[in-house]
Amino acid sequence: MADETDIEIREELAAADAVRPERFERAICIRGLKNQFGDAVVHEDLSLDVRSGEILGVVGGSGTGKSVLMRSIIGLQTPTAGEIEVYGKTLDTIANEEESRDLRRRWGVMFQGGALFSTLSVAENIQVPLREYYPRLDKKLLDEIAAYKVEMVGLPPDAGPKFPAELSGGMVKRAGLARALALDPALLFLDEPTAGLDPIGAAKFDELIRELADTMGLTVFLITHDLDTLYATCDRVAVLAEKRVIAVGTIPELLATEHPWIQDYFNGPRGRAAAGCNVATGRQDRNS
Ligand SMILES: Nc1ncnc2c1ncn2[C@@H]1O[C@H](COP(=O)(O)OP(=O)(O)OP(=O)(O)O)[C@@H](O)[C@H]1O
Ligand SMILES: [Mg+2]
Repeated sequence: MADETDIEIREELAAADAVRPERFERAICIRGLKNQFGDAVVHEDLSLDVRSGEILGVVGGSGTGKSVLMRSIIGLQTPTAGEIEVYGKTLDTIANEEESRDLRRRWGVMFQGGALFSTLSVAENIQVPLREYYPRLDKKLLDEIAAYKVEMVGLPPDAGPKFPAELSGGMVKRAGLARALALDPALLFLDEPTAGLDPIGAAKFDELIRELADTMGLTVFLITHDLDTLYATCDRVAVLAEKRVIAVGTIPELLATEHPWIQDYFNGPRGRAAAGCNVATGRQDRNS
């Protein structure tokens, strides 16, 4: 027979279903966003929709505000103006802490640079969000969930007890992804997930993201400078420039626009090389 704690956890999980991501055509809806630090305006009248179930690539020059945009969506940065809805709810107008938690546990985040806790093992890192949202989960269940996530991201089972300093760069990325997936999110934010990986490691990571997104029905907000990642994994790409999203669409749609930054980016030598490599296999082939 289920004990009292079990019943409480089940009730908590049932209550979380109130958000029901699958009911929403748009996972994220941003209108008129402004972000300003002192005199520096980073975003001005920025609007963007992220459709449920898509992998949206977000590109733009360094310092154009990609990370600030992600931080605004997840409530780590309070915008100067504008509205951001995630699954129909706006974080700053949510009435109570309970409702805010219900929404927050719908997403997982992998920050730029990975940012694993260096004093915690991989398994303990994965357990951080679980402990935060489900404090009554017992150690056995926490260990089982962590082991499952380790396997899910393609790490060997013995990676669980290891500390971040004992892992290769690619393994750290996978561990970061496992932590982002700890709460079985509907929405995944990845900020430069393949930065610093060698091309083979990066390609494997792209494949993993695509596979997980397909099997788990994830919506992914994927900030990247990596053109191969864009071609291999993204359904659509949003381009950040001039303080706003200047274009959003499939890569062929973006190529049809005349904007000089977009043309330089996709039609420059690196863009052409990435396009060439992905002619036969790229995700974009399915959308063009
Ligand atoms: N907390 C902050 N206080 C002041 N300025 C900030 C803060 N966070 C970001 N900025 C500034 O906002 C701008 C956009 O930063 P952001 O980190 O979003 O760029 P980015 O597009 O992610 O760049 P990169 O591709 O290099 O990661 C930068 O000029 C940065 O210095
Ligand atoms: Mg950034």
